[in-house]
Amino acid sequence: MQSNKNMFVSLFVMMTMSMVTNPFVFSQNSGKTNITVNVDSMAGIIDATIYGQFSEHLGSCIYGGIWVGEESTIPNTKGIRNDVIEALRNLKVPVLRWPGGCFADEYHWMDGIGPRHKRPKMVNTNWGGVVEDNSFGTHEFLELCELIGAEPYISGNVGSGTVEEFAKWVEYTTSDGESPMANLRRENGRDKPWEIKYWGIGNESWGCGGRMYPEYYSDLVRRYSTFIKNYGANQVYKIAAGPNVDDTTWTDVVMRKTGDVINGIALHYYTSNSKPAAVIDEKGWFDVIRKTLRMDEIISMHTKVMDRHDPAKKVALIVDEWGTWHSVEPGTNPSFLFQQNTMRDAIVAASNLNIFHKHNDRVKMTNIAQMVNVLQAMILTDKKKMVLTPTYHVFEMYKAHQDAINLPIQLETPNYEFGQEAIPSVNASASITSKGIITISLCNVNPTKNAKVNIKFNSFKNKNISAQILTAEEMNALNSFDAPTKVMPTNFTDFKFTKDELQLDMPAKSVIVFKLDGQIDSRIGKAIEVKKVKPGIKYAYYEGILMVLPDFSEMEVLRKGKIDQITIPEENSLGDYAVRYSGLIKLPADGFYNFYANADDGCKIYIDGKLIVNNDGRHAPIEVKGFASLHKGFHRIVVEFFQAGGGAVLETRIEGPGLAKQIIPANMLFHEID
Ligand code: AHR
Repeated sequence: MQSNKNMFVSLFVMMTMSMVTNPFVFSQNSGKTNITVNVDSMAGIIDATIYGQFSEHLGSCIYGGIWVGEESTIPNTKGIRNDVIEALRNLKVPVLRWPGGCFADEYHWMDGIGPRHKRPKMVNTNWGGVVEDNSFGTHEFLELCELIGAEPYISGNVGSGTVEEFAKWVEYTTSDGESPMANLRRENGRDKPWEIKYWGIGNESWGCGGRMYPEYYSDLVRRYSTFIKNYGANQVYKIAAGPNVDDTTWTDVVMRKTGDVINGIALHYYTSNSKPAAVIDEKGWFDVIRKTLRMDEIISMHTKVMDRHDPAKKVALIVDEWGTWHSVEPGTNPSFLFQQNTMRDAIVAASNLNIFHKHNDRVKMTNIAQMVNVLQAMILTDKKKMVLTPTYHVFEMYKAHQDAINLPIQLETPNYEFGQEAIPSVNASASITSKGIITISLCNVNPTKNAKVNIKFNSFKNKNISAQILTAEEMNALNSFDAPTKVMPTNFTDFKFTKDELQLDMPAKSVIVFKLDGQIDSRIGKAIEVKKVKPGIKYAYYEGILMVLPDFSEMEVLRKGKIDQITIPEENSLGDYAVRYSGLIKLPADGFYNFYANADDGCKIYIDGKLIVNNDGRHAPIEVKGFASLHKGFHRIVVEFFQAGGGAVLETRIEGPGLAKQIIPANMLFHEID
């Protein structure tokens, strides 16, 4: 249990995204759920990619669910179902993982390019031994991503592939040069390369991906990552296969041996259930929710291990497979993992998302399994028919959390008890967008009891409030092809808002999302008073061999100057050096500002003495962001940078009210004069 009282000690609270997790406290009390939302504190950014999806060549996820082919009578765009495209665009899917899963480690990408009628066929040994005709390959997948507006995340074949094959896939898709693979791509009809940031180095390499030991797999990661190149501006983000559930030994070994060459490590944790999705008694309901809430503990376990190897949290935990895994729908092929999706799945999705928000300092991406027709799907299809599941509706209701700033909450809630066991009955999360809209998502996991909920706000006066609810009478309520709108979000108005308190009686088994628009009544980020200023920012130049940013007070200043923008001053040593910039930044309006440092090597940004962005350490160019809530006017800015061997990059960007993300422009930078 963690108190957030100390967060109020300062009226000016700003944090880098890697600093703290959201206090998300469960405790038993007299029967009421009490939540406090601290609007003048922040607990990291909820990366949009936490809302990612997964699509595998499995059952009818790809074939039938997404891909019907250009000749199909089902309306399609270049072979991809229009109804599915439209539904997914609406969901704002930020990132889509493909082609597996277990399938990834037997997939040879070259079989899936070129004229479709010439593509070789293969047997999908993992999923039912069906014939895979490779008609949906690299171009089709990347077309799908473009159509739905998602970033691609490709899992490469390590289990049965080669380094050469993997390296060529990256070259084929992302190189713009005169290279054999780029030319082959052009021959296949795509002139410009794609931008593909996320690449997975194998999948479940402890299991279907090769039954490897973590030591052996780690060596492979080092080898593969050496030959996975960045072409042009495309910067590859390398994701290693991570642990199964609570296997912290895997995490420990892979982090120790590869932490310097990867950007993420993938955790897989499913909520398993031996009965079909819609066969639910209260014991079954309780068990599934209890297993779901274990996600919190499992993430914490791996985070602890990762923190030992990577205290600066450079490597992300990517939960790239999660969701319910029920027994298949009776009468369907057991290898196709087709399951229905009920109100209980909605509760599972909402609870998991609330947990991921809380861990946003380490969890940067998740991918629910799977997007269409497999496991906990968003969408089910049957030939021409399509239905949106209760899980889809949760993702839609929650989408305002994407890229918002997580707000710390304190939560006290009674237990929901069943037999000898107990779990917290309500879980919740809150965030604020850069436009100041607060989203609060609440989930009452108890299937039989309403929850009396009181929400208090610190430093916030509400002007407008609206809410949506997803609930149902029966535990196993679902949307079928014949009754596709049985479980749908509706407007929720049954609440009272008095001063700074929101009161509601939350129905049993429900998910409610509030949107509040109001005034943030706090003095965080107050502007400073300055007498005389001139344009430009000061810098001091130092030399030395560095692994991390130094204590500049102990370094000898070799040169000083003034510069219009935060760029590396000319006349540097060809060796190692460091620069410290200090001055003022003038902000045009009150609001939330994101700051970004893209640096090779280390860089930190401080605003008014608080560390906002921490991108320290020796590394290739990598962008790290942080944020601050700041008032209009002048603020002190300090940027520290060092260069150690190889290339040097320093780009500092800002984004805020009325400001699109951009390099901090010269007209915002000043220094004081006497
Ligand atoms: O999502 C279904 C399967 O579950 C994936 O192929 C595999 O990675 C996991 O075991």
